[in-house]
Amino acid sequence: MSYATQYTRLAILLHWLVALLICCAFPLGLYMHDLHLSPRKLQLYSYHKWIGITVLLLAVVRIFWRITHQPPPLPSGMPRWQQIAAHGVHHSFYLLLLAIPLSGWLMSSALGVPVVWLGVVHLPDLVAKNKELGDMLKVVHKLLNFTLLALFVVHVGTAVQHQFWLRDGLLARMLPFLDQGAGK
Ligand code: HEM
Ligand code: HEM
Repeated sequence: MSYATQYTRLAILLHWLVALLICCAFPLGLYMHDLHLSPRKLQLYSYHKWIGITVLLLAVVRIFWRITHQPPPLPSGMPRWQQIAAHGVHHSFYLLLLAIPLSGWLMSSALGVPVVWLGVVHLPDLVAKNKELGDMLKVVHKLLNFTLLALFVVHVGTAVQHQFWLRDGLLARMLPFLDQGAGK
C-alpha cells in the first residue's frame, strides 16, 4: 500500500469520470421511465444501461485503486465525528457504485430483457426470468438511487463548505487546478 498526500491522477480521473456518468445516468433513468413505449424509449433504456455498466466497470477499477492506495489524510483539526462521517459517506459511495448497476442488471435479467453493453457485448443473464423479482428489483434500484442522491447532496455540500467557508483546500485535492494556497 502506498502513502500519499495527494490523490493520484488516476484517482482524480476516475472520480470525475464516474461522477459525470452518474450525472447522466440518473436524470436519464428518471426521464426514460416516464416515456410512453416507443423505439426512442427503448433506445434510451439501452444508453442508460451502457452508461450504468460502464460505471460498474470503473467502480471495480476505483475500488482496486482504493484498496491499494491510502487516500490523503483528511484536513488536520477536522472533528472526529466529521472524519467518521466522511469515511462513512465514501465507503457507502463505493458500495452503491457496485449495488446500483448490479441491481439494474439483475432487474433487466429478471424482466427477461438482455443487456448488450455498447450494443456489442452480450452480458449473461444474472437470474432466470421472474416478473415478481423484476418488479421488486425496480423498487430496489430506485431506493438505492435515492440513497445515492442523498449522499451526493451531503458530499457536494461538504466539499463546497470546506473549500469556500473553512478554506482548508479540500476541494483542490480532487480539482488540482484550484490553487491550494488560495483557500488558506
Ligand atoms: C450508476 C448507474 C445507474 C444509475 C445512476 C441509475 C439510475 C436510475 C434511475 C434514477 C432510474 C429511474 C428509477 C425510477 O424512476 O423508477 C433508473 C431506472 C432504470 N434503470 Fe438504472 N441506473 C444505473 C444503472 C443501471 C444499469 C446498469 C441497468 C441495467 C443493466 C439499469 C437499468 C434500469 C432500468 C431498466 C430502469 C427502468 C426501470 C423502470 O422502468 O421502472 N440501470 N435507473
Ligand atoms: C455521484 C458523484 C460522486 C461520487 C460517487 C463521488 C464519490 C467520492 C468518493 C468515493 C470519494 C472518496 C475517495 C477516497 O478517498 O476513497 C470522493 C472524494 C471527494 N469528492 Fe466526490 N463524488 C462525487 C461527486 C463529487 C462532486 C460533484 C464534488 C465537488 C463538488 C466532489 C468532491 C470530492 C472531494 C473534494 C473529494 C476528496 C475528499 C477528501 O479529500 O477527503 N465529489 N468522492
